[in-house]
Amino acid sequence: MGTISMDGYTGGAQPEYDRMKEVKAFDDTKTGVKGLVDSGTKIVPKMFIRPCHELEEDLKRPCVKLQVPVINLEEIGNKNGYEEIVKQVLDASEKWGFFQVVNHGISMEVLNNMLQGIRMFHEQDDEVKKKLYTRDRTNQVLYQSNFDLYVSRAANWRDTLAVDTTYSGHLDPKELPEICRDVMLEYYNQVLKLSDVLLELLSVALGLKPDYLKEMDCSKGWTAVNHYYPVCPAPDLTLGISKHSDPTFLTLLLQDQIGGLQVLYEDQWVDVQPIPGALVVNIGDILQMMSNDKIKSVYHRVMANQVGPRVSVALFLKGLLSSPKLYGPIKQLLSEDNPAIYQEFTLNPYNTHFYSRPLGEPRFQYYKL
Ligand code: OGA
Ligand code: NI
Repeated sequence: MGTISMDGYTGGAQPEYDRMKEVKAFDDTKTGVKGLVDSGTKIVPKMFIRPCHELEEDLKRPCVKLQVPVINLEEIGNKNGYEEIVKQVLDASEKWGFFQVVNHGISMEVLNNMLQGIRMFHEQDDEVKKKLYTRDRTNQVLYQSNFDLYVSRAANWRDTLAVDTTYSGHLDPKELPEICRDVMLEYYNQVLKLSDVLLELLSVALGLKPDYLKEMDCSKGWTAVNHYYPVCPAPDLTLGISKHSDPTFLTLLLQDQIGGLQVLYEDQWVDVQPIPGALVVNIGDILQMMSNDKIKSVYHRVMANQVGPRVSVALFLKGLLSSPKLYGPIKQLLSEDNPAIYQEFTLNPYNTHFYSRPLGEPRFQYYKL
């Protein structure tokens, strides 16, 4: 008879579990979680199963019916509207670290085409996708499953097509997968414009000049992670994305209507309800540190799901890795009563540090003064 240990079902007489072997075999397929599901797997393989203590913790923590703030940008063009929006952005960024925006100017058609294009990428012929499967982060386009596959405790139930401009500072359209190239170009172009509006609102909300964050080159380099979360046979045992905060300045997320994204608010998981046409915005770790903890980068995760697939697109504003600029608490925001609590750092070592650890490791401590 088998036994249940802290590491899950050990199967009693079975030989010792070699996790690295399972991980490597999975990675070598180059077809990700979707490939696993397509091959007829009806169980969640052990490498994806969350540690027992996490599963138990979740049972104790109720999921509450609260709503992440929704901010309507429609009246941004008039003075009163603008001031009201700035107030709402500040309030949401301090209390939640998350908000949704509606009437942001990107059409439903562009949003839907993007989601559809990403779905088509992941659902196209394996042989085409496999050519893009890589762990070389200097590539502009990387298709992979679990960027932290070799360092995490439990793998996540998702595959990702990443587009990364943080090395080069520009996007080379030729390198984008043909099947979704045009919709990507259209969406990234529009969402980057919106991200400049949000950086302006956040600058003003923090009491800085409107172009402060833009001039800090927050949006000079970005990574778009285009996720595909296949249907999961046992969604309680694994996660779409483990609990983490984003290592970014700011993140803008487009999600489809399946749901599964949750944020930690006052120690409870709150669903980020899909709203047609809305985009989800969250403050990243760097902006929390620049604000000296005034605005918050909060933990969030994605549940695995029995329905789907789910598609989402996160645009990470990360800055340029080659930038010599120092980032840390903004001097103007500091005073005798509010001294800097973080060191300054440059983006290259900051990112190297992030990528060497499993997603969701405690952050900040490393940079605390
Ligand atoms: C992320 C993330 C959420 C989602 O990519 O960092 O939190 O809904 N994504 O896919
Ligand atoms: Ni995230």
